[in-house]
Amino acid sequence: MRTQVGIVGAGPAGLFLAHLLRRAGIDCFILEARSREYIEKRVRAGVLEQATVDLMHEVGAGERLKREGMPDPRIDIRFAGGHIVVDLNELTPGKIVTVYGQQEVVKDLIAAWLARGGTIEFEAEALGLDGLNSERPTILYRQNGREDTIECDFIAGCDGFHGVSRPAIPDSALTHYDRIFPFGWLGIVAEARPLAEMTYANHTRGFALASRRGPNIARNYVQCAADENLDLWSDTRIWDELHVRLKDDGKTELGEGRILQKAVTPVRAYVTAPMQHGRLYLAGDAAHIVPPTGAKGLNLAAADVWVLARAFAEFFRTRSRERLDRYSEVCLKRVWKAVRYSCYLTSLLHRFEQHTPFERQLQLTELEYLLRSKAARTTIAENYIGLPFEDN
Ligand code: FAD
Ligand code: DHB
Repeated sequence: MRTQVGIVGAGPAGLFLAHLLRRAGIDCFILEARSREYIEKRVRAGVLEQATVDLMHEVGAGERLKREGMPDPRIDIRFAGGHIVVDLNELTPGKIVTVYGQQEVVKDLIAAWLARGGTIEFEAEALGLDGLNSERPTILYRQNGREDTIECDFIAGCDGFHGVSRPAIPDSALTHYDRIFPFGWLGIVAEARPLAEMTYANHTRGFALASRRGPNIARNYVQCAADENLDLWSDTRIWDELHVRLKDDGKTELGEGRILQKAVTPVRAYVTAPMQHGRLYLAGDAAHIVPPTGAKGLNLAAADVWVLARAFAEFFRTRSRERLDRYSEVCLKRVWKAVRYSCYLTSLLHRFEQHTPFERQLQLTELEYLLRSKAARTTIAENYIGLPFEDN
């Protein structure tokens, strides 16, 4: 089998890329290790920057998002000294974010892709990449117990943090930047009334976040140990912690209800550089992960492939590799800004066991400053709504 761009992974990065390539008249082929049902149910991110929403429309997959996406014009931050309101609409005139589950994005992108005659091989696991420095790199994969190869002009490694693409690059060619925070997030989805606003909390017992997936579906998180044992978290304990940390002591704001899903997410920043090697280009979590606090991971994946698709389009139109050669450099500028912002918010909002009283005072003072300073809130707002997608 042959294709122009072989895409490994049907997460947001791989699916957005496939759509953008098709629009540029470039042939591609997607391999996905898991079943369609599995990836359409995998609960993850939920906050879409306006540029990501625009991209959904650009690729013709935005209809349901327009109906069901929940515009979020502000976020709240609660702490011992009060409630900070970051009014996105006012601070970044006219710009907001939209809450829409990542699995809904994935569902819509798959449906639109198949409706246009695109191919995705599900339950087709890439086993290895070969010939990355040749004109015809190949992907070896296994499906239904049979092994096969696809020959490509280029390979897009969109297979997430644990995929095979990044390890296919000789380690000596990469620099890894890594910071593991000493805690995790316990996330739940529940049939319960969410808080009225997207609300982040800094509390002496730890961070909490109240988000949503619908008028009666809450998506909430509490800071926990990095290696947390979920058996220690009864539903009652989770709700109690959420009420306390979100300063809903009277239990009047946050509804309680049946917990449908519970999982622990690590809090980590990781970047690999460069994001390319020979004819392999990494995009999304395959190249970088950010702490979830900034809600940037999915949006970064979209920004990467937006740049990559334009570079492929230029190559297939003109045979110039100029944009492809600059792919990593262009993406990493934006990636590092998202890493910086996500680490900043993580440091601002979490409980750090190792903090000295001095460091805790600095954290509280930063929150106090945000409460009073419009300039400080504007910095949060312009990063939260997302820096522009740029390809130079
Ligand atoms: P993935 O979504 O991981 O997709 C990679 C795909 O490749 C997967 O489908 C996988 O099955 C497939 N694959 C892997 N190996 C192979 C192989 N060998 N062969 C074939 N296929 C393979 N980000 C935000 O922007 N906003 C948020 O609010 C947010 N909240 C989050 C909350 C949680 C709890 C978590 C876990 C993450 C959150 N993120 C958030 C991060 C976001 O989910 C990721 O950054 C995003 O999924 C990255 O997309 P991707 O396409 O690069 O990778
Ligand atoms: C959600 C996830 C995040 O990481 C975040 O910062 C805000 C909201 C969510 O899942 O809705």
